[in-house]
Amino acid sequence: MVGKLHRGILSTISRPLGPPTERFSLKVFVSGAAGFLGSHLADEFVKKGDTVAGCDNMIGGDLANLPEGIRFEEADCCDVDAMTRLTQGTDLIYHCAAIATEGLSVFSPAIIAKHVYENTAGILAAAATNQVKRFVFCSSMARYGTGDPPFREDQPATPEDPYGIAKYAAELLTANVCETHGMEHVIAVPHNIIGPKQKYDDPYRNVASIMINRMLQGQQPIIYGDGEQRRTFSFVQDCVDPLVKMGTLPGLDGEVINIGPDEETVTINELARILAELLDFDLDPFYVTIRPREVKHATCSADKARRLLGYETKVPLRDGLQSIIDWIRAHGTKPFDYHLPIEIDSPLLPETWRKRLI
Ligand SMILES: NC(=O)c1ccc[n+]([C@@H]2O[C@H](COP(=O)([O-])OP(=O)(O)OC[C@H]3O[C@@H](n4cnc5c(N)ncnc54)[C@H](O)[C@@H]3O)[C@@H](O)[C@H]2O)c1
Repeated sequence: MVGKLHRGILSTISRPLGPPTERFSLKVFVSGAAGFLGSHLADEFVKKGDTVAGCDNMIGGDLANLPEGIRFEEADCCDVDAMTRLTQGTDLIYHCAAIATEGLSVFSPAIIAKHVYENTAGILAAAATNQVKRFVFCSSMARYGTGDPPFREDQPATPEDPYGIAKYAAELLTANVCETHGMEHVIAVPHNIIGPKQKYDDPYRNVASIMINRMLQGQQPIIYGDGEQRRTFSFVQDCVDPLVKMGTLPGLDGEVINIGPDEETVTINELARILAELLDFDLDPFYVTIRPREVKHATCSADKARRLLGYETKVPLRDGLQSIIDWIRAHGTKPFDYHLPIEIDSPLLPETWRKRLI
């Protein structure tokens, strides 16, 4: 299988192909490699025997996440010179680096735009200079905004907040730069991803991890609005497998592909109930005012991923949640870390953040 996957991208590289066991090693670069998804993805390519390099500016990552065998440098994707140096000779780039705090983006549009859009411009410039073969951009379901769920890739992108707008703008930029400068590109659109190594002390994102970190400390979960917002969660390995295919299968140039299950959706209330069961916790959540621009229902179709990538959901929600519980138990609960600036201190700012209630 490994050989088959790699024949895809290697067929676009003018080198002869060896038998699968002696296949060429790909040179892969992962931005945001010390983060949650980037570190799992880098680990997967290291395990396949590829040459893996990566960077992270450490705004949100953890060096402990880095897989052994990666060549890593602390660097910001906005720094074109650094990116050009680091991506020299690279076949395949995964651009995972971002500040991905969607709710906070309503109050901090400048830092989000910088670390979603401008950083994509930086690494794209480097990729073009180095004539990288394929560029995989990690977008987000936030691109669909208040569109009609379950979101399909052929429906218009109508992002609802600065994070979704920056992601969609970065998608357009990716397509434009790659088409002009002769690189293949694929846009990955993941759902909410869960699993070990996810930052669980971030008060601005990762609802399941926040709830678990609080409940393990004997604190009730905090729910914005009525809790009837519907979401889908992907276990990280169920996201990594299709991402690897997006980087290596042939015939995907220019495709936008959702990644995540469509068999199992939950409301935030149901999520809290499942966690309470798994943790044997006496649930009585705090309900607070809904955050501005929060989308009510955000679920995606996986039809295109099934058709193009043979996508399959392997890890059901409960098992994925249990794996985060195990991870947090093993690493200890943590106080929440208000590590990002709030740029617009308006009456709309949730009290949970203003008063640091999480
Ligand atoms: N986790 C999810 O639920 C989810 C869902 C949809 C899309 N995504 C996207 O997947 C990607 C990875 O998300 P994640 O959950 O692993 O987040 P993460 O915060 O764990 O990882 C992102 C990493 O990028 C780094 N970073 C931020 N700005 C950077 C810059 N300018 N230069 C270099 N490094 C920078 C951070 O320090 C962090 O380590 C992001 O692009 C995110 O938008 C994530």
